[in-house]
Amino acid sequence: MRSMKVNLDKKYLSSYEIRIGNGITDRMALLIAKNHKAGRYVIITDDCVNKLHGQKFLAGLKDTGLNVAALDFPAGEASKNIDTVLDIAGKLLKLGADRETCLIALGGGVVGDMVGFIASVFMRSIPYLQIPTTLIAQVDSSIGGKTAIDLPSGKNLLGTFYQPAAVFTDLSFLETLPEKEFNNGLAEIIKYGIIEDEKMFQTLEDNMVAVKQKDAALMLKLVENCCRIKKSIVEIDEREHGLRRILNFGHTLGHALEAVSRYKITHGEGVALGMIAAARLSEKMSYLEPSETQRIETLIRGAGLPVRISNSFATDSLISQLRMDKKKKGDIVHFVLLKKIGMPFVNGGIETDLIGEVIEEIKK
Ligand SMILES: NC(=O)c1ccc[n+]([C@@H]2O[C@H](COP(=O)([O-])OP(=O)(O)OC[C@H]3O[C@@H](n4cnc5c(N)ncnc54)[C@H](O)[C@@H]3O)[C@@H](O)[C@H]2O)c1
Repeated sequence: MRSMKVNLDKKYLSSYEIRIGNGITDRMALLIAKNHKAGRYVIITDDCVNKLHGQKFLAGLKDTGLNVAALDFPAGEASKNIDTVLDIAGKLLKLGADRETCLIALGGGVVGDMVGFIASVFMRSIPYLQIPTTLIAQVDSSIGGKTAIDLPSGKNLLGTFYQPAAVFTDLSFLETLPEKEFNNGLAEIIKYGIIEDEKMFQTLEDNMVAVKQKDAALMLKLVENCCRIKKSIVEIDEREHGLRRILNFGHTLGHALEAVSRYKITHGEGVALGMIAAARLSEKMSYLEPSETQRIETLIRGAGLPVRISNSFATDSLISQLRMDKKKKGDIVHFVLLKKIGMPFVNGGIETDLIGEVIEEIKK
């Protein structure tokens, strides 16, 4: 089992370990019992993960002698809202949860974001552990303490920064992950390569077949590398005042595509297209060599992610949606652009005509 520490400002209160391995669930239970003592543990998961992994995970914790119960809610983004939060909070009270309770988020980003949010406000905050089961959650959402639920007018509009007490990443969960969900995580892995690690980008270029087959050794290396990149960025900029914004590479247009498609376009698909748009914008503004744009597009295509925006999404609607981005400052939409692979920067205020031109190009 590999281990790394996220060192944050309030060292003793919010620094935590990320443990990564393959088939580590049994040891996880022992580590939880030893390092995260609580009067009661409540596993919160979704019904899909519950069916696949919930019972075994619950039994593992019970075998270790822990006082543990489990709750689930319907899988999917549609559940990431205040109604589910209220429902879970009510069920927690019925179970007798109090400030000695530790929540365990077993699932993808939806479970992690929502359990983190509940933990941050339930009885004025209780600890929680992240056990990510999707690739996106393993390389991204379980680390960094961004918690959120959606409002009818947009995604992640209600949330907190609240770090987990620990993250346990077991790659064996990926065995049951459908290809579409795997690809979502792959888009984030490609993003880390583009923004921070040209060598990993090259590893992806050279080994995409093995990645798609979920080669265990390769996946361990990639997931560990991505966690290291994310935790290093979060350590410097926990609250996204500066550096952390580079993690949004590809997300500006990505989020707009997700919203305009009413979430038929998945997060990973949106990010893939957003990364192509950001690369093309960088090229048009003479920051990035055309050959680098080409490498990015080729890798994204090779990963099985989309490289063309459907004509069914009007360019004007996408631009209006970009103006609603919650990360915009005033009227300016910030794009993360590239000087080369491994060298991103945040650019404020790109002409919407140029954005429109790039969107039109990607539709061809
Ligand atoms: N907090 C952050 O920093 C951050 C970062 C990125 C994304 N997010 C959020 O994460 C969410 C997306 O995460 P996601 O893609 O993991 O979504 P998700 O949690 O909805 O999981 C996707 C689907 O995979 C299923 N699933 C989970 N684990 C499985 C497994 N091992 N085997 C089979 N099926 C499994 C789930 O039941 C669900 O149906 C979005 O809400 C996004 O806003 C948060």
